[in-house]
Amino acid sequence: MPTPDASRAGTFAIGGDMRVNRLGFGAMRVTGAGIWGPPADPDEARRTLRRLPELNIDFVDTAEAYGPYVSEDLIAEVLAPYGKLHIATKGGHTRQGPNRWAQVGRPEFLMQGVKTSLLRLKLDRLDLWQLHRIDPKVPAAEQFGTIAEMQKQGLIRHAGLSEVGVEEIKAAQKFFPVVSVQNKYSISDRNSDAVLSYCEANGIGFIPWRPIDGGSTNAADPKFQALLKKYGATPGQLSLAWLLKRSPVMLPIPGTGKVAHLEENIAAAAITLSDEDFATLSSLR
Ligand SMILES: NC(=O)c1ccc[n+]([C@@H]2O[C@H](COP(=O)([O-])OP(=O)(O)OC[C@H]3O[C@@H](n4cnc5c(N)ncnc54)[C@H](OP(=O)(O)O)[C@@H]3O)[C@@H](O)[C@H]2O)c1
Repeated sequence: MPTPDASRAGTFAIGGDMRVNRLGFGAMRVTGAGIWGPPADPDEARRTLRRLPELNIDFVDTAEAYGPYVSEDLIAEVLAPYGKLHIATKGGHTRQGPNRWAQVGRPEFLMQGVKTSLLRLKLDRLDLWQLHRIDPKVPAAEQFGTIAEMQKQGLIRHAGLSEVGVEEIKAAQKFFPVVSVQNKYSISDRNSDAVLSYCEANGIGFIPWRPIDGGSTNAADPKFQALLKKYGATPGQLSLAWLLKRSPVMLPIPGTGKVAHLEENIAAAAITLSDEDFATLSSLR
């Protein structure tokens, strides 16, 4: 098998000036169960991260809340200095235990998040910082204003949002250029179609999380099965190929803590679906 190559997915320029291959890596899974503490197999997680540049992956998504801190720490340990690799991280989420998350959008906490991510990732400036969630307990204008201020101070190059609707993106755009939106999206979860259209119309990168879900949901469908055979693909690969064809602003970040799964996922960059097969997959849901 040829070495999987993320550059075969084509590229997207985040914020118009940060060009990355359209198949990246989500680093949430290099942590323990419930995204809490260290991974079950830390050496395999390290090997997975070390493999990223060899597969031409130049975009990695993480968050201070993954672990918490475990994912950012491992990324820095294995990959810094980063060369051509762009590390996107997030802040604004706190952790109380496995699978427990709570938003904190107070300006001083967002500022602390950015400054401690800089320390952990060993960077002077974050290429892309995303507000993990808008905190409903804090006026949105305060959170967006803090992001604008952090950009003005040179702490972050580009800023994005996560789990937002079109109106929230528009509100944020009054404060800073929104370059990316990270929402849950796959063949089987298209609740964010309107957000994706808005991103396309405005040149905003759309980063779908849980991207390989479409595979498991549709695995038993005979039409899906036929396409797996036709393309010699796994369910996850077919789901990623569908995402890549769905929109030129789509930047999937499949996540894993295992080298074999990473290689399988990135091999999806070489799959080009025909228009007809894309339509068949689109009709499944
Ligand atoms: N913004 C947000 O609110 C938000 C929320 C969730 C995630 N994210 C981001 O999105 C990224 C992707 O999301 P995700 O990790 O939830 O979903 P995903 O990438 O669709 O799926 C990951 C899950 O599938 C498994 N997996 C991955 N590749 C596989 C393969 N080839 N064969 C079999 N199993 C495979 C992984 O386990 P193994 O480790 O065993 O491979 C893991 O359990 C995360 O890493 C994170 O960066 C963002």
